Amino acid sequence: MSNISAGIVGVGAYVPERVLTNVDLEAFLDTSDEWIRTRTGIRERHIAAVGDAASDLGVKAARAALEDAGVNPEEVDLILVATSSPDMILPSTACFVQEKLGIRGCAAFDLQAACSGFSYALAVGAQFVETGMYKTVLLVGADAMSRFLNWDDRSTCVLFGDGAGACVIQPVEAGYGVLASHLAADGSRSDLLKIPAGGSANPATEDTVRDKLHYITMNGNEIYKFAVRCIPDAVKTILEKACLTVDDIDYLIPHQANMRIIDAAVERLGIDKNKVIVNLDKYGNTSAASIPLAIHELHKKRNLKRGDILVLVGFGAGLTWGANIIRWL
Ligand code: UT7
Repeated sequence: MSNISAGIVGVGAYVPERVLTNVDLEAFLDTSDEWIRTRTGIRERHIAAVGDAASDLGVKAARAALEDAGVNPEEVDLILVATSSPDMILPSTACFVQEKLGIRGCAAFDLQAACSGFSYALAVGAQFVETGMYKTVLLVGADAMSRFLNWDDRSTCVLFGDGAGACVIQPVEAGYGVLASHLAADGSRSDLLKIPAGGSANPATEDTVRDKLHYITMNGNEIYKFAVRCIPDAVKTILEKACLTVDDIDYLIPHQANMRIIDAAVERLGIDKNKVIVNLDKYGNTSAASIPLAIHELHKKRNLKRGDILVLVGFGAGLTWGANIIRWL
């Protein structure tokens, strides 16, 4: 292993123009703005335009990240897209992003770790740089979850939104960039959150379409209990790995799924609430896009300072979870 450090040198984000508010949902669903706000913290979410797929959102975030980094698309060695709402089952969404960026030749593949996708992708992408195999990795977290929602199922469809975030990873000064990553999964709990049909286990048939098996199904209560434990555990594990403590954290960026999950986790961790980044009120749960969207917001609005310690923590279907620590450049 070489001693190259890998860090984020540019950040970009994109959310579709169309906003769907809780009040809009009241018009066709047995729900209320009050229920959604108090149970989740979500006020509105963005929905991809007809004809737009995950790669259309992802490429806009990717272009913004490349511009922020001052890197030409031709310099990219690898495009890594974290998504669980790919444009198609094959080819990979990363290949569509490459084509839309107008470049050819560089490596491109998708990584599927659901809402933990960005944490996983950051760990994987950073390693390509740390080993010296690649100099410039373009990481994209892009999801158009609205395409897989059963709009008659009020327990899931109010939660998700569409969006994309992207980061450019390159070699950075030693001691900066990604300091540590922790990835984990528990496949015995795969039933809790899934899209039952459309894969090789249950290919599309008239029956699967009729039975609405191409949409997300979720045991919300079990995921909730898992998430409340998982966030503090993953954060503590990653802090230990990096020989840091909770007090060293400048910003905690948890996956944006539910405000109550974040509040409970924050209380268990004993971290100052002001250090915790929350934007789910505007976007809902954007799956693999939620963490990079939050990094982008932080980068643009609060002016991250050199040396700031960021802890990212994702959790989701699989079950999967992951955390990363970054020392900002
Ligand atoms: O990236 C990971 C993705 N998933 C998650 O993070 C999900 C984690 N889980 C959650 O966020 C919460 O469990 C939910 C928001 C999904 C549900 O909140 P809850 O407080 O656990 O509600 P519940 O499932 O216990 O349901 C309470 C009641 C039920 O009615 P009854 O049986 O008590 O009469 C539901 O039918 O709320 C009802 N309900 C709704 N009512 C109005 C469920 N969804 C809605 C809704 N509007 N949208």
